Amino acid sequence: MRLDRFISKSTAHSHQASRLMIARRQVRVNGVVMQDPRTDIDQFMTVTLGEELLQQQTAHYLMLHKPAGYLSATSDPVHPTVMELMPAPLRALLHIGGRLDRSSSGLLILTNDGLWSRRLTEPGKGIPKTYRVSTARPITHETHQRFADGIYFAFEDLTTSPAQLEQLDECEARLTIYEGRYHQVKRMFHAVGNHVVALHRESMGAIRLDATLAVAASRPLTPLEIASIEG
Ligand code: URA
Repeated sequence: MRLDRFISKSTAHSHQASRLMIARRQVRVNGVVMQDPRTDIDQFMTVTLGEELLQQQTAHYLMLHKPAGYLSATSDPVHPTVMELMPAPLRALLHIGGRLDRSSSGLLILTNDGLWSRRLTEPGKGIPKTYRVSTARPITHETHQRFADGIYFAFEDLTTSPAQLEQLDECEARLTIYEGRYHQVKRMFHAVGNHVVALHRESMGAIRLDATLAVAASRPLTPLEIASIEG
């Protein structure tokens, strides 16, 4: 939102009065006097008018080593949720950037930056997500080919982007997909007559689950990890 509009929306001042105060050098953005009323203000900028603080919000980005058995939800009457594993002061602020099923484990990202998490999860952005998969039946050569060709999902009437399978054992593989559709990995294996028995997310783009992060522990993302999800 433009700075002049931001001031008039967050105070009792008119749009015109807001522009005047900006011109009179009464407005600071992130501590710096801002004289251009067209300056774009996002939710994480600190904005002050004279001594009055109009907005101050810190962006939070964390990775959680999700254990199986926890729901990717903020609250649930029956099952424990991943929010219960997050630092208490942040729980009310955070949302999940790319859910995992209750039975799945691995990398889960939580943030209060909605634009950033949209970039991470939007299918159109094509960010690779890598999963370690264990299946009930052997993974065949045909499965590799079918995944590379894309699997048709009748419900959404779409074909998944070409996905790569790296065979690790007869019933074990590393799968890279470029979307993050509802139950995507399980539905892909179901479509080829197989069944996923364990699913663990290893990475989203350049963000890899920290090998030193204990199950159920979380840590803030590094500035490099945050910047790897570009606008
Ligand atoms: N695909 C699934 O089917 N489940 C997950 O938890 C993640 C991706």
